[in-house]
Amino acid sequence: IADLRRKAAATLLRNWRGSATVPTGTLYPHQWSWDSAFIAIGLAHLSPRRAFAELTALHGAQWRDGRVPQIVFNPAVPEDAYFPGPAFWRPLPRQGPPAGVSTTGLVQPPVHAGAVLAVADRHPGDAADAAVHRLYPRLARFHDYLFERRRVASGLVAVVHPWESGLDNSPFWDEPLGAAATALADDITGLRRDLRHADAGHRPTDDDYARYMGIVAAYRNRGYADDDLLSLPFCTVDPLFCAVLAWSEQALAELARRTGADPGRHDERARELTHQIHSRLFDPALGCYVALDARTGRHLPKRTVSGLVPLLLPDLPARRREALLATLTGPAFGLGSPPVRGVPSYDLTASDADPHRYWRGPTWMNTNWLLWTGLRRQGETRHAEHLASDMIRLVADAGFREYFDPVTGEGLGADHFSWTAALLLDVLA
Ligand code: DGY
Repeated sequence: IADLRRKAAATLLRNWRGSATVPTGTLYPHQWSWDSAFIAIGLAHLSPRRAFAELTALHGAQWRDGRVPQIVFNPAVPEDAYFPGPAFWRPLPRQGPPAGVSTTGLVQPPVHAGAVLAVADRHPGDAADAAVHRLYPRLARFHDYLFERRRVASGLVAVVHPWESGLDNSPFWDEPLGAAATALADDITGLRRDLRHADAGHRPTDDDYARYMGIVAAYRNRGYADDDLLSLPFCTVDPLFCAVLAWSEQALAELARRTGADPGRHDERARELTHQIHSRLFDPALGCYVALDARTGRHLPKRTVSGLVPLLLPDLPARRREALLATLTGPAFGLGSPPVRGVPSYDLTASDADPHRYWRGPTWMNTNWLLWTGLRRQGETRHAEHLASDMIRLVADAGFREYFDPVTGEGLGADHFSWTAALLLDVLA
């Protein structure tokens, strides 16, 4: 265990770039939004100063309209190291990031307020108070953006690109993506940079990428305008994104209290969104929460790990909690049933599950950390402990990989992966 801790710390040190941490130096050579939140949770065990610096750097790139961007580009890294690189995005000056900062125009799941509260609680004191005062207004503006500009379907909050969900090629998105036009289909393989650093069989397909580009170009070409969201080619409600937002909104209420601001609107928004998730996104036949295609009004009935993340939320009726636990420990996700290790990203019994392909089967540390946190919140200590020991064993056997084969434990995707190291430190604490 001491050795694992040392290696985790070394991974985070290796990926630190002076003001923030890259997810990994090759495949993702810039700062990613939700990665930074998970990384801060781990950095709290090494250096709270650095944990707050990570999140302060990210929020330094916040757009004028409040959105906190999915990627903050490092100007020292060449344009063509990542696709689509900085030149692609072209936000309007009055709306985009501060002058001289370049970012994408999308968001990612808002884990940040929850992360700030976790770091502050681990190291109470003047430095944490100062960081909370500094970050609270930024976090609140980001949440205002999401609740005010991304609200669809009377009270739920939408994502406008699979990249915003964080689970890019989740089976949830097959149907809505299938209806979206493709762009750049002829030369997409040549443009992609990810395939230089990771096995093509572990990544989204060329067809996925062609559609990702079509959707993101449509959003960019209308100046990232969020009016009339349903006219965008992709607009969905994701249970992980919404549950994380409700969880973070609760954290924001607590941060508001600590800064002397009024927590009332945060409490109210957290309650209302939690209610909407519980009443509108649960599928009793599948025993989990599902996504919603906001354009068609149709649910997307698949069992994915995102549909278990509402375990993070309060007010789960006992029967609902039992249904979720039955799904989690049943054949679809296999928690507590060796040889399955950790919770896979997708239903293992589905005919299109692929244990190697990104979010279509592999086990990831960040979604497992969210479930671990949720299980502990629900008082499900035994399941939480089992999950933690699976997470530790996966990393001990395969290293700090980006994701893992849920049955063989094989390490997949990139190596030296920051959130794997960070969240392992938290689980070990
Ligand atoms: C990637 O580049 O694969 C990321 O998932 C996008 O955020």
